[in-house]
Amino acid sequence: MQAILCKEFGEPSILSLGEVPEPDIAPGMVKIQIHSAGLNFPDTLMIAGKYQSQPPFPFSPGMESAGIVAELGEGVTHLDIGDRVMANHGHGGLAEYVLAEADKTFRMPDNMPFDQAAGFTTTYGTTYHALVDRAEMKPGEVLLVHGAAGGVGLNAVELGKLLGATVIGTVGADEKKDIVKRYGADHVINYATENFRDVVKELTGGKGADVIYDPVGGDVFDQSMRCINWQGRLLVIGFASGRIAQLKTNLALLKGCSVVGVFWGSFAARSPDQNRANFETMFCWYADGKIKPHVSRHFPLEETADALEFILSRQSTGKVIVTVRE
Ligand SMILES: NC(=O)c1ccc[n+]([C@@H]2O[C@H](COP(=O)([O-])OP(=O)(O)OC[C@H]3O[C@@H](n4cnc5c(N)ncnc54)[C@H](OP(=O)(O)O)[C@@H]3O)[C@@H](O)[C@H]2O)c1
Repeated sequence: MQAILCKEFGEPSILSLGEVPEPDIAPGMVKIQIHSAGLNFPDTLMIAGKYQSQPPFPFSPGMESAGIVAELGEGVTHLDIGDRVMANHGHGGLAEYVLAEADKTFRMPDNMPFDQAAGFTTTYGTTYHALVDRAEMKPGEVLLVHGAAGGVGLNAVELGKLLGATVIGTVGADEKKDIVKRYGADHVINYATENFRDVVKELTGGKGADVIYDPVGGDVFDQSMRCINWQGRLLVIGFASGRIAQLKTNLALLKGCSVVGVFWGSFAARSPDQNRANFETMFCWYADGKIKPHVSRHFPLEETADALEFILSRQSTGKVIVTVRE
């Protein structure tokens, strides 16, 4: 089968298209014939050797995909061959076939196209878990979402509104404001040109945000600790800025606030039933037209490196999808 291969750590340009054997089915696993693969910022970290888990060389990146069930391993009972599924498999999605754990493979809602399904699991799974399980966000609270036009960020805006929050989004360029507003944000701040800390204080009558969703880190985390409300929750999602911030614990004391770690992949592995229930809720919302996954651009498999550069250059909004099979 054809696959994008990473043979050494580096920039997206080190990736190549190659021919490798199809994966063999194994107990508890699902073999999927991939139609679309969803890209994520962590794919860029994995090929650079900066991600928390690292497959041996050569490997195919691509942590999520959607396609058709081609084979089922022993013990897999919730799916049938031929089902349309979405899956989260850590890596291996930029290829014609992948093996996914049964617990992380879901039958797609009937009306969902492959491209939307391919980009669903990581960002929606993370965001639902963050807002509902970790922050226990309540209707009427103020949610501040950083990197609000990005993959996880846009989902946080959309799910935040659905959960009844007043949503403030931040973006790094004025062109990104429109999509964040369209997904329901009440206010959008360009944090490259405006001091978001002051604007958030002004918008909340001096109180600050109750829940802060932070996939950016660095200076954005530092300033967030200064515009969080009493007993607020700052969700540590990621470090797209490239800097892991150091927490000034006196600020946590003064605000009576919590800094809450979110690691969806580990949660999904430790609590598969709760994770599945989260997806069932979101699939109902999808069927009811309450959530609409946003794909900003499609690339063919052979242009995967360009697709990852598109994400790294901060041009993408929502999801970037690689089409493996039409
Ligand atoms: N905790 C978890 O379980 C989990 C799960 C999935 C992802 N993540 C993490 O969440 C973060 C975002 O992932 P994603 O797939 O949503 O990425 P993405 O689509 O690229 O979005 C990231 C956003 O961060 C902003 N950003 C600020 N500074 C940046 C910089 N120096 N370089 C690139 N982007 C920058 C960009 O928005 P502006 O240009 O508007 O500033 C961009 O839209 C990553 O750190 C990822 O590892 C965590």
